[in-house]
Amino acid sequence: MATATIIDGKHIAAKLRAVVATHVAKLKKEYNLVPGLAVLLVGEDPASQIYVRNKGWQALDVGMNSFQYTLPETVSLTELLKYINDLNQDHNVNGILVQLPLPKQIDTEMVIEMIAVSKDIDGFHPLNAGLLVLGGVGMIPCTPMGCLMLLKQYLGKLASMHAVILGRSNIVGKPMATMLLRENCTVTIAHSYTREIAEECRRADILVSAVGNPQIVKGDWLKPGSTVIDVGINRISTQYPYIMDKLVGDVDFASAIKVAGAITPVPGGVGPMTIACLLLNTLIATCRQNGISEPKIKLP
Ligand code: GUN
Repeated sequence: MATATIIDGKHIAAKLRAVVATHVAKLKKEYNLVPGLAVLLVGEDPASQIYVRNKGWQALDVGMNSFQYTLPETVSLTELLKYINDLNQDHNVNGILVQLPLPKQIDTEMVIEMIAVSKDIDGFHPLNAGLLVLGGVGMIPCTPMGCLMLLKQYLGKLASMHAVILGRSNIVGKPMATMLLRENCTVTIAHSYTREIAEECRRADILVSAVGNPQIVKGDWLKPGSTVIDVGINRISTQYPYIMDKLVGDVDFASAIKVAGAITPVPGGVGPMTIACLLLNTLIATCRQNGISEPKIKLP
């Protein structure tokens, strides 16, 4: 029985980080500039703590400065906005990331809108989101950027392909759809109100799933030979052979691998690409803020 190619996000992310590190070294040598990434975490969610720590040490690893701030779960909106305002003014900080989700008392939209557009390395600010839709030059959200790089590495040109995206979040689904449209794909966004969702998926040459629902996409939802990008990171408990916690994607990997042409694993697929793209965005933001032409990134 045919088995899909595994798209090795860990390997491709390592290549991207190496390219970013080369450009960071060049900035230091030629301009005495060191890109600075500030990450703000509110509260003590264990998963968010791990993500934030990884972002910090990977920034250091490519030669950037990393600034991490942990604020209590009870922080007020006013206090949080003041932190962001200070980071906006700080010349050593080129990129600001506020880890989401935020506690209930915090208005997430106000927080995102407070981040200086030029330092919004998540690409979540309405101006950057708008520029993406209009085809302008802004910051592009890291997870869909990572997915697109994986697709291009594996498929080359994407024009005329039918892409189906599961999920319509502002972080992944919507920007992913926009980016694939910019690549001249025919794009369908499916979501919880979509009828015949499996039928929609079976039409996809490219399927990107970002719904956060463990193993919902089965092998018989896929078009044979299609390329499947699994953005989901879901923690489940297994009973057999041991009782343990395990990370799985939105895609039922065991059945999907028999039908797809290529598929990303979880973990080791999209996750490492997201952080590598965050570092790339921090590098790009540093160049733009200093009037230096930004690097054209080509992966070896
Ligand atoms: N939480 C989950 N994914 C992300 C992301 O890409 N950026 C931020 N800021 N928070 C997240």
